[in-house]
This record gives sequence, C-alpha cells and structure tokens, in this order.
Amino acid sequence: MTIVDSHLDVAAERSLADDVFDGLTRPFKELPPKHFYDARGSELFEAICAQPEYYPTRTELAILQERAGELMDGIDELVELGSGATTKARLLLEGGDSVSRYVPVDVSSSVVRAAALELADLDVDVHGVVADVERHLDRLPAPTGRRAVAFLGGTIGNFTPGSRRRFLRSVGKLLEPGDRLLLGTDLVKDPAIVEAAYDDAAGVTAQFNRNVLAVCNRELGADFDLDQFEHVAFFDRVHEWVEMRLRALTPQRVTIPALDGLVVDFAHREELRTEISAKFTRARIAADLAAAGLVLEELVTDPDEWFAVSVATVADADGTRFRR
Ligand code: SAH
Ligand code: TRP
Repeated sequence: MTIVDSHLDVAAERSLADDVFDGLTRPFKELPPKHFYDARGSELFEAICAQPEYYPTRTELAILQERAGELMDGIDELVELGSGATTKARLLLEGGDSVSRYVPVDVSSSVVRAAALELADLDVDVHGVVADVERHLDRLPAPTGRRAVAFLGGTIGNFTPGSRRRFLRSVGKLLEPGDRLLLGTDLVKDPAIVEAAYDDAAGVTAQFNRNVLAVCNRELGADFDLDQFEHVAFFDRVHEWVEMRLRALTPQRVTIPALDGLVVDFAHREELRTEISAKFTRARIAADLAAAGLVLEELVTDPDEWFAVSVATVADADGTRFRR
C-alpha cells in the first residue's frame, strides 16, 4: 500500500517568498537551506553524496549497515524526517524484523514520491508525507506501534543552535515511552577534511549551492545571474560549523518581481550565507537532547569517530529512563 499526503502548496510558496524577502533585506544577507531542494536540488544533493570528499553519507551508511538490527529491534514503524534518497531507509527497514510501515517526510515531493517505488520490493507499507518538518510535524499519520523516528545525514546541523533545540523538542512530541529517535550527526574533526567535503573538486557542491538562486529565479521571477556568484565553504572554528556562502564576483543588482519588485544590490565580493552545517561532540549532542527533554541512550560511531548515530528516548512521567 502506498499513500502520499501533501501539506505544501500555496503555503510553501508563501514561505519561500517570506524567507527570501526577510533574508535578502538583512544587512548580512542569508537564505534558509530548505529551499535548495527542488527536484534538481535533490538530484544534485544525491550527486554530492557520491563525491569522494563527502564522507558523511558513506560513513553513516557503514554505521547503519553494521547496527541496523539493534537500532530497529522491536520497532513497528520507521518515520524518517528529511528522508531524501531511500538508501539509508532500506538498511534500517531490512534490519528490523517487525517493521511494517515506513513514513518518509520531506519538503521535496520528488523524493517522497520516489520512495514508494524504490522500496516496492520490501514487505512494508509506505505512507509518504510532503511537508516542512519545522511546521507540519503535528500532521503525521497516527502511529501504528513502536516508532523509530530517524533524522539522518547530519541535517540537524543545518539548524542554528537555538532552532535546533526547538526542533528537537517538537520531534520529542512524536515519541512515546518505548519509541526512539535515531539522530545522525557529523562529528568535529580536522577542518581540512570537513572543508573538502563541502567543496568537492568536481564542483557538485558549488552547483548545488547556486541552485538556490535558480529556485528564486523560477519561483519568484528573480534575475540572479548564477555565473556571477562563486561558492565559498569554510569551517568556523569558534562555532564548529561549516558555512556555505555565495560571493558576488562583481557588483550585482537583482530584481525580484514576486516580492513587489524588490531590488537587491550586492557589492563586489559581498557574500550571501546559504547554509551552516554544525559538527558535534558527544557532549553537544547530549546537551541538545537534554534541552529538548530527550535522553541520550547510546551513541554509535564509526571506528574513526567521524560520524555518529545517536539513540535517544523520552523520559517517562517520573523522569526515569525507559529501557529500549
Ligand atoms: N536523509 C538524507 C537526505 C539529507 S539532505 C541523507 O541522510 O542523505 C536533507 C533532506 O532534508 C533533503 O531531502 C531535503 O529535501 C530535506 N529537508 C530540508 N529541509 C526540510 C524541511 N524543513 N522539511 C522537510 N524536509 C526538509
Ligand atoms: N545535511 C547536509 C550536510 O550538512 C547538507 C549539505 C551537504 C549541504 N552539502 C551541502 C547543504 C552543501 C548546502 C550546501 O552535510
């Protein structure tokens, strides 16, 4: 059985317009990352995952490959937030022996629709949800049993620290005692390794980064000249996050008809921030989970400690831990 619910339509377009207006009229220009993922953006992201420099995907896959049975033990349904490609879901679904439903949730309708087809060979129902996980978590289908909610790929690192905790709190509301959160986080490591992952030699990440301008052109009628912006990625050692920016190569004037003809000027070499990707330590993961009312039960890493999959649960009413 396959169902696809969609909670994005006029409201989503509004959110792009509001975000772009808000972000491009600030003194330090910024665009929020969820707008990268139109069909082309999702394709480019999957190409990033296959680049030799982009270690997070293969490292997390290796962890899931090895530990899927344990992570999915006793679980009836897998809800995956920001699901993207089904590679990781497949490992988890095949690893569990009692899973009967998969609920992929993503803003990108193309990936949600593809999920059901790609997993048709498995004996699980797929109930896809096209939605913004920051706004629509209360609209997920009611649970069918013990739940694992997965948020993988280090996407949690794309939130700023405050909104990260707010988001984790809302994810916690999806969990009953006995359910678990599987949270994928990239870990702090040699900055050179991290910077290479976000600036691959083939230039796929650069293309992905500029795609957000193409989305503004198509959806809002803007006239960004993509060739006039270069991709910048650097590791901020104070915040321990990677920042992705687009830098204007020459002075630029951009007009955005859908925003009442808003005119945005870029100075020579002015930068627009498009993404942060925070890197974590065990202490930071535990603190963020605790601030959201969740308990870190276990942290599974690869042998080099480059990436972690954390298992977290909700404390029960007495505040005592629930055994998995
Ligand atoms: N989970 C996959 C994909 C990670 S990329 C992996 O581990 O490789 C991030 C994914 O989150 C993309 O598929 C993107 O479309 C989705 N996404 C980003 N912001 C989102 C939001 N606000 N709501 C729902 N999905 C979002
Ligand atoms: N969640 C991914 C990460 O933080 C997203 C990502 C990878 C990304 N490369 C990117 C986002 C480049 C914007 C630009 O690793």
